[in-house]
Amino acid sequence: MISAIVKKHEWCYSIEQDLFLYVVSNKKHTKDRGVATMNTEKCTSWVERDKKVIAPTQHLSYFPLVVESGKDSIIRDLDGNEYIDFLSSASSLNLGTCNDHVKAAVQEQLKKYSQYTIAYTYNIPAIEYAERLVSTYPGGVKAKILFGNCGSDGNDAAVKFARAFTGRTKIITFINGYHGNTYGSSSMTTVTTRMRKKMGPFLPEIYPFPFFGSDTPDDVCEKECLKEMQRAFDTYLPADDVAAVIIEPVQGDGGLIPAHPIFMKKLYELCQKHGILFISEEVQQAFYRTGKMYGIEHYDIVPDGIILGKSVGAGLTLGAFMARDEIMDCLPAPAHLFTLGGNALACSAGIAAFDYMQTEEFQNILKTNCEILQESFAMLKEKHGDIISTTNGLGMSCGIGIVKTNADGTKEPDLDGTFKILYRAYEKGLLVISVAGNILRIQPPLNIDHDLFRKAFAILDEAMADYEAGNIPDDVLQFQNGW
Ligand SMILES: Cc1ncc(COP(=O)(O)O)c(C=O)c1O
Repeated sequence: MISAIVKKHEWCYSIEQDLFLYVVSNKKHTKDRGVATMNTEKCTSWVERDKKVIAPTQHLSYFPLVVESGKDSIIRDLDGNEYIDFLSSASSLNLGTCNDHVKAAVQEQLKKYSQYTIAYTYNIPAIEYAERLVSTYPGGVKAKILFGNCGSDGNDAAVKFARAFTGRTKIITFINGYHGNTYGSSSMTTVTTRMRKKMGPFLPEIYPFPFFGSDTPDDVCEKECLKEMQRAFDTYLPADDVAAVIIEPVQGDGGLIPAHPIFMKKLYELCQKHGILFISEEVQQAFYRTGKMYGIEHYDIVPDGIILGKSVGAGLTLGAFMARDEIMDCLPAPAHLFTLGGNALACSAGIAAFDYMQTEEFQNILKTNCEILQESFAMLKEKHGDIISTTNGLGMSCGIGIVKTNADGTKEPDLDGTFKILYRAYEKGLLVISVAGNILRIQPPLNIDHDLFRKAFAILDEAMADYEAGNIPDDVLQFQNGW
């Protein structure tokens, strides 16, 4: 119930409810804010219903966006507001939503059957998709795959297989890595204590070490990157008890930071020296997100295993773990199988997306979009150099770091500023979120229309200008509920 309506800056909000109740009509222009505000009445009422029945832990929501429909790179909310998509459903829709190829494949499959468990039968979409995916294994390595339901259980699979294959128990991970939310994968996740508090004990024998990103100076990386690990090997962590290193080639939720090439090279050599499996965690980065099929292909490394999730099912529920034949053959059924893993619908969707991604048409669109992204970053840095500290990433998996300048001239991450910018972008029709506190996450569908892509950056430019001009009120900060 609204007990008080406070009028400020020509818009109204409830001081009791969590969410804005815009009382202006959809897309009505308000002079002093210079922003087309929108009606979110229907969305807000559904958010209220959600709160009553869905556990709060299921949302890291930044705004009351209830999706009504979507096509490719445009998302439409229940009140008819449209947004250009810079989130791609957390990188699980690399071809955007309702992609024509994916939709046709799913419809075709539905004419035959929806799914039937591969635990007791066999299905052609799973076999055909597996054939395609193993054929992409870096280095032409002969590999096999298993399908699960999501990225998290793909991480669990990697641990099980690494332990079984090597006969060792210890797993090395990296600080600020995100691996998921099953018990196994959250045991490896180190991005926030909110994924840890009150739920322990976690899986034992997981050892997180510092991650060295491409923003580290080469000489520092050369000297420091394996120091802690080497010390651990010398003191309490016998190297030949370590089964695997599991690493994101680009830390996603940790801030969209590519691993430093020197760090990766040294880590790979260390693994080879001690018989430790090198597993590339590609849940967020595979399927051309970084410009190549796998993030690890930016490094001269042939991994022992690859973990997949998100876009592997082109938006339908699917996860996978893929590794050299002898690793995948080391466990008998039912050591890691799921009733719905590799289901026919998700594999059909995955095949359609995969096949389109191999076309020249897609590869050309992707290449141009990677260029537009870099040009746009340069434009934003030129215009907003005071508040942009970094533009990290690879391909279409990038982040923009937002900072503020202290009185003494030093810079520090600007968490509130980051939120204000993304909130203003939302108001202007761009869906963008933040990771690692002050990094704007730039992960649009890879095939986003070029003009739309430029338009999205124009919105971001305006949102940053509004922020720098002090035109985004502090009121919006009460809605911060993200990372
Ligand atoms: C790198 C990475 N690994 C694993 C996961 C977990 O995937 P899922 O949520 O599908 O289980 C995510 C999800 O954000 C991720 O970004």
